[in-house]
Amino acid sequence: MTALRVHLPLLVILLVAAAASPPVTLRQAADRAGVLVGAAVRPSLFSEAAYSETLAREYNMVEPEDVMKWWVVRRDSKFDFREGDEVVRFAQAHGMKVRGHCLVWDHANPAWLTEGGFTPGQLSHLLEEHITTVMKHYAGQVFAWDVVNEALDEGGRPKDSLWYNQPGIGLAEKGTAYVERAFRWAHQADPHALLFYNEAEGEGLNRKSDAIYAMVKDFRQRGVPIDGVGLQLHISRLDLDTAAIGANIARLTALGVQVHISELDVALPLDPSTGQVRKDDLLRQADVYRGVVRACRQNPGCTAIQTWGFTDKYSWIGSHSRGTRGAALPFDRAYKPKPAYDAMLEELTGRPSKEP
Ligand code: XIL
Repeated sequence: MTALRVHLPLLVILLVAAAASPPVTLRQAADRAGVLVGAAVRPSLFSEAAYSETLAREYNMVEPEDVMKWWVVRRDSKFDFREGDEVVRFAQAHGMKVRGHCLVWDHANPAWLTEGGFTPGQLSHLLEEHITTVMKHYAGQVFAWDVVNEALDEGGRPKDSLWYNQPGIGLAEKGTAYVERAFRWAHQADPHALLFYNEAEGEGLNRKSDAIYAMVKDFRQRGVPIDGVGLQLHISRLDLDTAAIGANIARLTALGVQVHISELDVALPLDPSTGQVRKDDLLRQADVYRGVVRACRQNPGCTAIQTWGFTDKYSWIGSHSRGTRGAALPFDRAYKPKPAYDAMLEELTGRPSKEP
């Protein structure tokens, strides 16, 4: 008691100082702001010290970049959770949340599934079994799932796909009915998980985002269990209209769903002879990051900001752009924070900063 009385003023001073000092990592800033900051991860890289240390220090959420997709979990038709489990173990060891990705997509599926000649009835059974088994395996460990990924085309129509109409799960040409079926199965499998629809290039205001909005509105009105929309934000232009993104976030959250920025990266052109990016592009890239984080932070329903990887050393952009673009993430190849990182930190901290 005496010891406590003697040290109490000191303790108060220390606590006040800690609360007042500016956060020095994205994770600290995000924790204070009550928002999630995440990165897509590859468990094969956890053994690289700089990778693991940076991840645990800077982020409070991870999402498997590939290892919870069909082509890993169902490499053959049996379930294999080993690599996904590694992500969960890493997250638990470092007090991070896990966002699951993804259960229904027309990419990243194994050949035995896509070329198996299954009937709609068989595919429906396979999909229900997949969603149920994967979500039950990760129940209580994965707090949110991208249940359906990229189901719409640019015009806002359901894309031709294995699950929709080629041959589909029995709901071909019935619009978003197959998406609805997947969400209902997902809710049954794990009623506590947050269920997201995740989409590319539907982040601003366009025909695809209008279609997402209409689908979510319809689902909410009819009690289809959907909790959120993931806006991927793989960006390759530096003149991004962040006001349109803010407006889209506002109309989605007004429907009562959350929005996650789910796959943010900003790919820069590489000089063909040197493979380097231009210095001023790094600053323009930072402004894009700043604008996106700000658009999210301006809306309390936007609850997570996640980048697709975190170090330029490991990013899908290189192979995706056939080597023409790169340097898309907040840390460089040596894990040094880039201007994009500073912009994210400033916006998460809420420090006054220049307009994007
Ligand atoms: C990408 C991964 O980053 C790559 O490693 C993989 O080869 C292909 O898929 N939208 C998504 C992600 O929802 O799952 C994709 O991830 C990138 C585009």
